[in-house]
Amino acid sequence: MLELKLDRVSKHYKQKIVADRLEFTFQKGIYGLLGENGAGKTTLLRMIVGVLKPTAGEILCNQREIGKLGGAYRMKLGYLPQKFGYYPNFTVWRYLEYLTELKAVPLETAGDRMEKLLEQTGLLHVKTEKIKTLSGGMVRRLGIAQALLNDPEILILDEPTAGLDPKERIRFRNLLGSLGRDRIVLLSSHIVSDIEFIADEILIMKSGKFIETGNQEKMLKTVEGKVWECLEMPENLEGLNRKFPVSSMKNLKNGKVEVRIVSEIRPSEHAVQAAPNLEDVYLYQTGGRKG
Ligand SMILES: Nc1ncnc2c1ncn2[C@@H]1O[C@H](COP(=O)(O)OP(=O)(O)O)[C@@H](O)[C@H]1O
Ligand SMILES: [Mg+2]
Repeated sequence: MLELKLDRVSKHYKQKIVADRLEFTFQKGIYGLLGENGAGKTTLLRMIVGVLKPTAGEILCNQREIGKLGGAYRMKLGYLPQKFGYYPNFTVWRYLEYLTELKAVPLETAGDRMEKLLEQTGLLHVKTEKIKTLSGGMVRRLGIAQALLNDPEILILDEPTAGLDPKERIRFRNLLGSLGRDRIVLLSSHIVSDIEFIADEILIMKSGKFIETGNQEKMLKTVEGKVWECLEMPENLEGLNRKFPVSSMKNLKNGKVEVRIVSEIRPSEHAVQAAPNLEDVYLYQTGGRKG
């Protein structure tokens, strides 16, 4: 059994509340933590990995408070921080070797493990290169490889897809898929499309609170019947934008604009209902419910 539980977890910086009595129980699976910059994602993830202490509340792993578990808990963890630090003059291989020693991964198996991870992350061909010569995407992938060194039961990835190009995003998605669902994977992002095809469950965070949690199907239900599409003349856009959360706009050749709106009421007389996607949910939950 594996369970990670947030029990009314709060974090305050002076007057500012960055995490507000968060409650959630993670079991094996892939979770996406979605929220705008400043929502409190990094703060929460840093509390989960134990580098920050909650101001109030507890984080429990299999019913025991993580601070009390100490090293035993850290052995279960893999973590990719948002600001991922490395030694630019180390080679890829030397860097992993070094971390292997820090993480006390048994040396007999370490070489094979490193080899396999570099293959999975598509870095085997650069294993003797210095890190400073790698592209941004490669450095991110190296960050993911290091988080997996100890084959963690709990994998925490803070904005793992930041700075990846579309091809690399797909590779990353496949990599996470290939890890199996035998662990807790929690990844954060402010980009809906980076989460929507990866995560089994989604937590939408705003101002230190979870404003919606659940699987995609459940989330899509929350905006069912509230997503509209209409063709508008450019001069009507400003008014619509003021009144309704607009989730996308596309200029058409005929001079009109195709507008997608999330609203409880029909936003304009020629609006027709459209099938919701996660972007609509996110907008509806975070964009203020105008209209
Ligand atoms: N050490 C700190 N002291 C004061 N405020 C902080 C500190 N760390 C983060 N914050 C604030 O907490 C809020 C949430 O930050 P963060 O957890 O980094 O959000 P996210 O990762 O979702 O962008 C932000 O408003 C940020 O300025
Ligand atoms: Mg962050």
